[in-house]
Amino acid sequence: MNTEEKLVINGGRRLKGEVNIHGSKNAAVALVAAALLVEGPVTIENLPGITDVEILLNVIEELGGEVVRLSHDMVRIDCSRITKSKADNYDLSRIRASYYLVGSLLGRKGSAEVIFPGGCNFGPRPIDQHKKGFEALGAQFEATGGFITAKARKLTGCQVYFDKISVGATINVLLAATLADGLTTIENAAREPHIVDVANFLNMMGADIKGAGTNVIRIRGVDKLAGGKTYSVVPDMIEAGTFMIAAAVTRGTITVKNIIPEHMESLTVKLNETGSVDIEEGDDWIRVKGIRRPKGVLVQTMEYPGFPTDLQPQMVSLLSIADGHGTITEGVWDNRFQYVEQLLQMGANIRVEGRTALITGVGKLIGAPIRAMDLRAAASLILAGLAAEGTTTVYNLEYLDRGYEGFIQKLAELGADIKRIGV
Ligand code: EPU
Repeated sequence: MNTEEKLVINGGRRLKGEVNIHGSKNAAVALVAAALLVEGPVTIENLPGITDVEILLNVIEELGGEVVRLSHDMVRIDCSRITKSKADNYDLSRIRASYYLVGSLLGRKGSAEVIFPGGCNFGPRPIDQHKKGFEALGAQFEATGGFITAKARKLTGCQVYFDKISVGATINVLLAATLADGLTTIENAAREPHIVDVANFLNMMGADIKGAGTNVIRIRGVDKLAGGKTYSVVPDMIEAGTFMIAAAVTRGTITVKNIIPEHMESLTVKLNETGSVDIEEGDDWIRVKGIRRPKGVLVQTMEYPGFPTDLQPQMVSLLSIADGHGTITEGVWDNRFQYVEQLLQMGANIRVEGRTALITGVGKLIGAPIRAMDLRAAASLILAGLAAEGTTTVYNLEYLDRGYEGFIQKLAELGADIKRIGV
């Protein structure tokens, strides 16, 4: 008997209604780590209830921080007294954002020893740009024996030019430079909204960071960050985009609320290009109404403000039921099409050539037992299941829990026939 936890979806229902979007996963994980730089209590609200955040909060406690969960989406973190600079909780090896502890601990304590980060498997995930930034600040950096180690007698402001645009390296160097001596300039910085969020958070606590959201960020080091403030995490553009695509793929009508519509621009434009939706926008919401079968379109993922790689798998699900040919080229990761094999089980017609997926739309997908292999792949396969005829069973749900709070419940509230069946 198969006792593995699974999700059972009876496809074919049009999703209808409103959905509230949580705080951004990729901002939240960086903000929790950034709290290590603050000598005083900080309250973070709109925090998503996901495993990646929980793991980091546990580690903050292990390092000597005080964590008080004020409500389901609000936490107070007090890192006035940080006693350790070694983060060896093995759970950290499951997530990518553990590397932000390196920047924060290095900035705050002058040394960091952090278990090597894991996260989704998209092929090689080098950290050479993090190393380059830390070394430019005057730290010694090593990644051996399952740990990243960084230490410095003193961090000194410097000029860092990234050879590759990296969200993680931009945030990590920003964290380490906040308490460094003098001015650090990061050039060729990533521009994602979560980078702006981390800079806003640190500035609220007393940092001096300018230019976040552009490709040159200037950080003038300060002596100390004081707490006593409350910060609200930026809305999750990837969760929002997933629900926008859910409306298109099920030909439903979903109002996605508590978002920043400007962050959704690249997706809004692409969805319009498929001719499959009517989109209306307000100050903090977008309504997507699926009106007809999508046309095949060309998509190229790239750094913000380009089309996000974290919405690539969901977009592939939509294009797999398009009328005609679509092409998606992955511009960020070497190997982010592993889930396509699962869509083939559902009757999709997709050929992957290197970093490009060539999709010939089919009239309908057919429900099948399938397996998620990373977070956004899980979301994409669920969307395919919602659109398919018949029953789809999705296994490996732990990936979903890493990044989407209450995803299944939200879909059920929108009218999906979806049930999680436990062991
Ligand atoms: N890269 C390097 N050297 C480095 C760092 C990155 O060559 O030192 C390369 C990577 O191999 C990749 C590209 O630069 O080709 C971009 O990587 P980046 O560092 O921006 O990615 P990341 O920080 O590891 C974050 C998100 C990912 C998201 C990417 C790109 C977090 C915790 N993770 O990863 O999110 O795909 O940025 O936007 O913020 C997800 O949420 O599902 C997810 C995977």
